Amino acid sequence: MKNIIVGLLTIGIIGLMGLTFMGGGAYHGGEYGKVIEDFGDTMTAYETVAIEEKDDRQKEMDKLSALRDKAGSAGAFEVSHEYKSKCASCHGVNGSGYQNGKPMMGPKLIGQTAEKLYKDLVEFKSGRKENIIMKGLLMPLNEEDLKRFADEIGEFPARAEAAKQ
Ligand code: HEC
Repeated sequence: MKNIIVGLLTIGIIGLMGLTFMGGGAYHGGEYGKVIEDFGDTMTAYETVAIEEKDDRQKEMDKLSALRDKAGSAGAFEVSHEYKSKCASCHGVNGSGYQNGKPMMGPKLIGQTAEKLYKDLVEFKSGRKENIIMKGLLMPLNEEDLKRFADEIGEFPARAEAAKQ
């Protein structure tokens, strides 16, 4: 009697296994597998769109910064290419710390003396004044570079005054 029950159970279990296999779960590439495949395709489509959008936005940004460069040299006073490329993105083309009426990441520099600017730059570079952005930025610059930047920015008010006349 016991043997018969065990036998029936075994046949039942083997039967169920067979059914499951033929039904094809996700891992057997059955219907569920297809759903996952479709989902994969959709994901790829989304990714492609996202990358294209970024390209467009990048182009807009490039256009904008080209315009900004123009406005910077036309409306205000001349600044060095060095300042424009390394500092203006955070402190503004004229060192005001503002762009289109909005505060930028870096504070206002125009109006500070060359001595104070130089002192701040040296302290950022040495890490005595803590700012991870400025420190990283000044890492490749030597003291002469810092002096040059400080002197140039220190001259901004005089340059602005001269440009008005
Ligand atoms: C990625 C943005 C960024 C760039 C680029 C950048 N700065 Fe700064 N700068 C900052 C921020 C943010 C602070 C404020 C740090 C603080 O006070 O802790 C700062 C502070 C300063 C200060 C101190 C001003 C003050 O009143 O305390 C000076 C001077 C300065 N920057 C000069 C420069 C020069 C020169 C360059 C180009 C070589 C430059 N920065 C490029 C973000 C930037």
